Amino acid sequence: MTLSDLNRLLAERHSCRAFLSDPVPKDQIEQILNSATRVPSWCNAQPWHVIVTSGEETDRFRTAMLAEAADGTPSPDLPFPTSYSGMYQDRRRACGWALYEAVGVERGDRAASAQQMMENFSLFGAPHCAILTSPAELGGYGALDCGGFITVFCLAAQALGVATIPQAALATYSPFLRRYFDIPEDRMILCAISFGYADTDHPANSFRTDRADLTEVVDWVG
Ligand SMILES: Cc1cc2nc3c(=O)[nH]c(=O)nc-3n(C[C@H](O)[C@H](O)[C@H](O)COP(=O)(O)O)c2cc1C
Repeated sequence: MTLSDLNRLLAERHSCRAFLSDPVPKDQIEQILNSATRVPSWCNAQPWHVIVTSGEETDRFRTAMLAEAADGTPSPDLPFPTSYSGMYQDRRRACGWALYEAVGVERGDRAASAQQMMENFSLFGAPHCAILTSPAELGGYGALDCGGFITVFCLAAQALGVATIPQAALATYSPFLRRYFDIPEDRMILCAISFGYADTDHPANSFRTDRADLTEVVDWVG
């Protein structure tokens, strides 16, 4: 494999926000998970653990998740960012507006943007959802290791033609997820990854995000 093969895979992957209902064969899900577990972790602790839903269990979870999001109290295990400012706020807005423009939500239409946000809790129609947790005692470093797991999960899935979206939105309701999936108190709920086959005709999948130039992210020394 060459760097251009990897770059092609990176360019093809994007966060999918509308899925077909067709399930992904279990052996392919296992291949994706096996690839994701190859990422490095501090002391090789491999802090990740996932609960993967399929079939009717995904639908049952979707229904319960939507009900929770309608009137639950936000309480993420891993505190959400307190603010986005400067270039981070600019980039956050740009990707939000790109999505809203794609699906026809007018700027300032709070009801429509809230409705689009709620699509998170229906898993964007995905037939599978992976709930990712890490031992609470590993704190931020467990979460850091799990970031690598998420990245390779998404790339390995892409290599098999499977679309993905990491979703911190679901972790908003960590106590609900803990009860629903019987997740032990000593594990921190980080996020979900919904996955399946992309509905390529859906407007939510019609835009792509860009990346800052290296001049914005690197200071060369020497
Ligand atoms: C840890 C993590 C959590 C995310 N949570 C959400 C989410 O809750 N809802 C959502 O629509 N997108 C979510 N995303 C997707 C990002 O918005 C997306 O990765 C970013 O805009 C870059 O776009 P791309 O993935 O299409 O390249 C998340 C991504 C990551 C890595």
